[in-house]
Amino acid sequence: MPPAAFETTLLIAKPDAVQRGLVGEIVGRLERKGLQLAGMKLVHVPRKLAEQHYAEHAGKGFFDGLIAFFTSAPVVVMAVRGVGSIAVCRTLIGATNGRLAAPGTIRGDLGLSGGHNLIHGSDSPESAERELSLWFDDAELIDYTSSSQGDVY
Ligand code: TYD
Ligand code: MG
Repeated sequence: MPPAAFETTLLIAKPDAVQRGLVGEIVGRLERKGLQLAGMKLVHVPRKLAEQHYAEHAGKGFFDGLIAFFTSAPVVVMAVRGVGSIAVCRTLIGATNGRLAAPGTIRGDLGLSGGHNLIHGSDSPESAERELSLWFDDAELIDYTSSSQGDVY
């Protein structure tokens, strides 16, 4: 196992998570894993911000539907910290389509959809940096110690 860095990643509980009352379930999984919330807010996403967030998918066949869904109801945006948190969160989230995502993952346990798949997570350090700056001002991210953040091994 290579040493892992202490990282911050950007997660978003999507409109279906809020509509289905699954925000607590999702946040609970992150907390129980030992990850730390550094920022958190409820946002009804403006169209322009949604398009910026999903810029890498602009022009794809599913893009318009994705933006319509993402702006259809509030989301909960989170900055999440921990050792290796970017990859760890992607593992906790599971594969894009809930029908294919492994049991034990958020998508695998809680949904059957590819589009309404409950949660977004940054997929790389570069994505995390870009997405965190899109959704949070530096002053909104709070540094504090908590008891369970893992170690670098
Ligand atoms: P993507 O970044 O590929 O997936 P992930 O969320 O796992 O990083 O796609 C972004 C979102 O776009 C995805 O969560 C659901 C939606 N989507 C579709 O609706 N249809 C598709 O074919 C794909 C690939 C994604
Ligand atoms: Mg993605």
